[in-house]
Amino acid sequence: MIRASAPGKLMLCGEHAVVHDRPCIVTAVDLRYTAELALTDAPAKIIRIDAPGLPGSPVEIPLDAIGTSARKETAFVEAVIARMHRLHPLPSGISIKTSGPAVSYGLGSSSAITVAAAFALAELLELSLTHNELYHLCYGAVLDVQGTGSGFDIAAAINGGTLYFSGRGRVIEPLTVTHLPIIIGFSGSKVGTVNLVNHVSTLLHDHPTVVEPLFDSMQMVVEQAKIALLSADWQIFGTLCDINQGLLDALGVNTLRLSELVFAARGAGALGAKLSGAGGGDCMFALAIDEQDAIRTAIEKAGGQVLDLATGVSGVRID
Ligand code: MEV
Repeated sequence: MIRASAPGKLMLCGEHAVVHDRPCIVTAVDLRYTAELALTDAPAKIIRIDAPGLPGSPVEIPLDAIGTSARKETAFVEAVIARMHRLHPLPSGISIKTSGPAVSYGLGSSSAITVAAAFALAELLELSLTHNELYHLCYGAVLDVQGTGSGFDIAAAINGGTLYFSGRGRVIEPLTVTHLPIIIGFSGSKVGTVNLVNHVSTLLHDHPTVVEPLFDSMQMVVEQAKIALLSADWQIFGTLCDINQGLLDALGVNTLRLSELVFAARGAGALGAKLSGAGGGDCMFALAIDEQDAIRTAIEKAGGQVLDLATGVSGVRID
């Protein structure tokens, strides 16, 4: 039996623009997901999947039909097994058990589970995949399921740390950031990422001369944020986060609740605050050097849940 785990992610800046060939910065967070895999010796090649919240769990899917079961709870794991099986045919059936935090807060549970399952499967098949091969396998699986996405979350789950990411994985550059002074707030609601990505694509299609410059500004935010992060200049990083938040608002992915948390944090002394990820709910974060208690309290009073998660944690590993 092989067990692997991979971390979730927190987008720091550049979301949405990164889907349109601009860079972003992401950090891996200590919300780890685990996949436990074993080869089975039954004569029929069956994939047996045991996952939290999966109706009828464990489910059994013939290897020939993997990737076609239309169960959303197993879609990513099925897609990555199907891709692996096409590249390296499985010698037998396998059993898979996934686990992780009960609530994912929109912090990358699907990408973490996909990466953990692929890494464990590669180990089980005694393949030594490079990070790049693992990335393309998992990113392909994400596209099979969602049809869209930049791949930054897969890169974070594989590499861990804090990354400058662009070009759908052509550039994955680790950034040396020893301590990120942020407070993460969960806004408690969620709209599907794909809907929000499609909303932004429609806006781009309908108003290209307005939206392209917004993406260009987001790119400049990311380039300057990278320098600020590397020199631990939190004042500048905070200001850039505020600008990024305004640009995301212009794309229509902000919500009243996220704004309330962002303004509450700023009002309590944060050096900057923004939503993180696709928007429509999920998380925000605030840069907090001083007044940390006041900022936490302000986020909570505004209806947010503060999440104490370490950032820049290690990437996929065999446990
Ligand atoms: C979602 O967390 C971030 C987006 O940029 C989508 C993606 O990059 O895949 C909105």
